[in-house]
Amino acid sequence: MVSITVLISGSGSNLQALIDAKAQGKLHVDASLLRVISSNASAYGLERAQAAHIPTRTIQLKDYYLGVPKDDIEHRRELREQFNVDLAEMILEEPPNLVICAGWMLILAPSVLNRLAENKIDIINLHPALPGAFDGTHAIERAWKAGQQGRITKGGVMVHRVIAEVDQGDPVLVKELELINSELYAEYEARVHEVEHVAIVDAANMMIDEQISKTGAVSSSYTTK
Ligand code: GRF
Repeated sequence: MVSITVLISGSGSNLQALIDAKAQGKLHVDASLLRVISSNASAYGLERAQAAHIPTRTIQLKDYYLGVPKDDIEHRRELREQFNVDLAEMILEEPPNLVICAGWMLILAPSVLNRLAENKIDIINLHPALPGAFDGTHAIERAWKAGQQGRITKGGVMVHRVIAEVDQGDPVLVKELELINSELYAEYEARVHEVEHVAIVDAANMMIDEQISKTGAVSSSYTTK
């Protein structure tokens, strides 16, 4: 069995795509959605997980910063590192084979990535832009604006392995989208999310196949051709 922990921060529509794929038999037969961890206690994605009977945990950076002034940079830096250390341990409480960042909006420090690597846990992230195009936040809007200005003709979505440099890990899967001149932002955004919901399932299945080929771990229900 390949177990997956999903990290979210908001609506969780990409988590929902994984949940639906599992229910419809479109997620690898040897995959299980182990837990959902949210950086936001009021994320709607938590309700989606609970409706699918997936255990949830929450860890909020603002709880670490409580009472510490914004200009107390050094103290907040220490607290943010503690947040990352605690997040890694939360993931490892029930170690998955794979972590999927699905709308997770916080940069993951090396202290998280190193702990996962030590435990041979792969981690991938869904990012709504092409490799190297619009790393970081507001990627969908930035791509759309560049298209409207005629600077680019293609947008897209990728799922990549997570490294310390934000959105710069090796792509696992890339799906391109034509940018349509005079298309409204909301129309482009809707097309991006539609492609994301397919990409995240396809990428998860690719990672699951990779894990199985590496470890040979197949479940009893795995049928040989
Ligand atoms: C998605 O566009 C994702 O690529 C980006 O944030 C959005 C989150 O969507 N990181 P959801 O929370 O999965 O609905």
